[in-house]
Amino acid sequence: MHTRIRTLEEYHADYQQSIEDPDAFWAEAAEAFTWRKKWNTVRGGDFSPAGESTWYAGATLNITENCLDRHLAQRANKLAIVFEPNDPKTRHLRLTYRELHQRVCQFANVLKQNGVQKGDRVVLYLPMIPALAIAVLACARIGAVHGVIFAGFSATAVADRINDADAAFVLTADGLDRGAKQIPVKSVVDKALEHCPSVRRVIVVEHTGWPVELKEGRDVWYHDEVKSVSNDCPAEEMAAEDPLFILYTSGSTGKPKGVVHTQAGYMVWADYTFRNVFQVEENDMHWCTADIGWVTGHTYGLYGPLLAGSTTLLFEGVPTFPSPGRFWEVIDKHHVTIFYTAPTAIRSLMATPIDHVLAYSLSSLRVLGSVGEPINEEAWHWYDQHVGKGRCPIVDTWWQTETGGIMISALAGITPSVPARAGLPLPGVQPVLLNQDGSEIEGNDQEGYLVIKGSWPGVIRTTWGDHERARQTYFAPYPGYYFTGDGARRDEKGLYRIIGRVDDVINVSGHRFGTAEIENAINQSDYVVESAVVGYPHDVKGQGIYAYVICQHGVPTTDLDLQMAEASIIEAVVAEIGRIAKPDKIQFVSGLPKTRSGKIMRRILRKVAEGETTNLGDVTTLLDPLVVEEILAGRK
Ligand code: WT7
Repeated sequence: MHTRIRTLEEYHADYQQSIEDPDAFWAEAAEAFTWRKKWNTVRGGDFSPAGESTWYAGATLNITENCLDRHLAQRANKLAIVFEPNDPKTRHLRLTYRELHQRVCQFANVLKQNGVQKGDRVVLYLPMIPALAIAVLACARIGAVHGVIFAGFSATAVADRINDADAAFVLTADGLDRGAKQIPVKSVVDKALEHCPSVRRVIVVEHTGWPVELKEGRDVWYHDEVKSVSNDCPAEEMAAEDPLFILYTSGSTGKPKGVVHTQAGYMVWADYTFRNVFQVEENDMHWCTADIGWVTGHTYGLYGPLLAGSTTLLFEGVPTFPSPGRFWEVIDKHHVTIFYTAPTAIRSLMATPIDHVLAYSLSSLRVLGSVGEPINEEAWHWYDQHVGKGRCPIVDTWWQTETGGIMISALAGITPSVPARAGLPLPGVQPVLLNQDGSEIEGNDQEGYLVIKGSWPGVIRTTWGDHERARQTYFAPYPGYYFTGDGARRDEKGLYRIIGRVDDVINVSGHRFGTAEIENAINQSDYVVESAVVGYPHDVKGQGIYAYVICQHGVPTTDLDLQMAEASIIEAVVAEIGRIAKPDKIQFVSGLPKTRSGKIMRRILRKVAEGETTNLGDVTTLLDPLVVEEILAGRK
């Protein structure tokens, strides 16, 4: 076992060992960490029938000791976080490991002073600023379970998550700037909390300076609280399988589920995958553009880099503000060496004049990464040629909120990187393709359901408050395997190509939404009787959201009716979920294609949304085949 794989031979040898003797492999991978107590068993639990996994059971540790304290001897003055604000005219900020350690301890003491205890759930609804990173680590330091919600979700979505997690504490800010947009995050929280009886305390970080209302007895300013705390906060001793965080993600059923990751396995997986996939060196400047509100931000914006003692860049803004050159400007400004972003960002920048890229040297770059959805060949080549200047390996990293870290990807410069292929599995990961009946598909040049055989350290442990749901979703469909929900192809060389979801989940700009979740939101509009949502190929977003809607009073006929109905639907989605789930196309219909048993035939809706007009497949089982004609005639 090599803690850092450096050649293709080492990869093959390590892969082999990780499958033949996983216990020895993952014991060795865990050696370098600070443990309060070592484990009794490396790997435990069973996927089937219990849907259970344990890693390093019996061990105790604190992940922040491994992210911070462990580095103080060698790297106290090394930069841990470089913060680049939304507005390039505002000053950036740098925190060394020593400074970050101190700020985390202070924040942790503020949490304790406000009654947060080990095991409590703390919801974070914050802009992408250092306080978010510090607050996450502060929770981990005292053993509170952090639940970050991307600060773009609506008050209703925030309330649902707070209630599901039964959280008593919320951390937020006065406001947020994202590109040209401004979001009054504190008032979103206030609205959410009208429906959250469990919340006792809200701690507000001052960021934009906007006026906010503090509710007496419930809300406090962070800057008031921090005055009276010490800089020293001993880390709580956590059991390996204590929960570390909850992150909500969509599935094919209506309600998002709280994916739970635990302390030790997640730590080892984040560290191992980060260092190996990106081939991290001591002086790297790592920039993962994902918000900490998503798992990519958790694992590769925060935990992975800090565990490795690297420097991570935290960016508050968006790729196109104030100009489409913003990413490239930031790369040159901070000498970014590893750049990890999403295909949707690449495609949106590809569509702007190339001068925005050519104005910058980008000479510091060494490795490029892609995540969140399949990267199309055109975007891959543009990324390679114009950003990487043909000299930076690209890693197309396939993974999920549930997998904790990267599962299938090239190791930069070591294993093959081919456009539109995620590539080979990481050591410890056994991808399998299944037929619908659950039989394994052998050999190369084959396509099927992507499942993972056996456990790996970063696997989802449960869904918060409802283990049966996790079992049903991930472990019951094909006993012995973790079910990913993706379809994949193994090419002639054995490299994996991810095709996309096989369930009712759509991936919009790298964000997951269940079609049922969006339909529920649309149905909140007073205009709507019923709706059906499907994904369709979108040039920038990967998939766009296409909604078929039946209105109370039939298909709107006047322009005014049409506009009012559309506005009401969009308002409902923005209120229920957030702007990110807004439908791209709305088609009003008088009926939906249903079978005699009342099931919507989404296959037909998908085909129409994709632009297919002739080959819709079998429509003879439909209750009313005429609706198909109408849908075709009215397609957007
Ligand atoms: C779904 C997981 C953890 C990454 C951020 C998204 C799709 C993710 C790739 C990739 C093709 C990808 C899959 C997966 N996906 N990365 N490199 N190539 N598809 O996490 O929100 O949990 O979504 O994103 O469909 O199932 P997520």
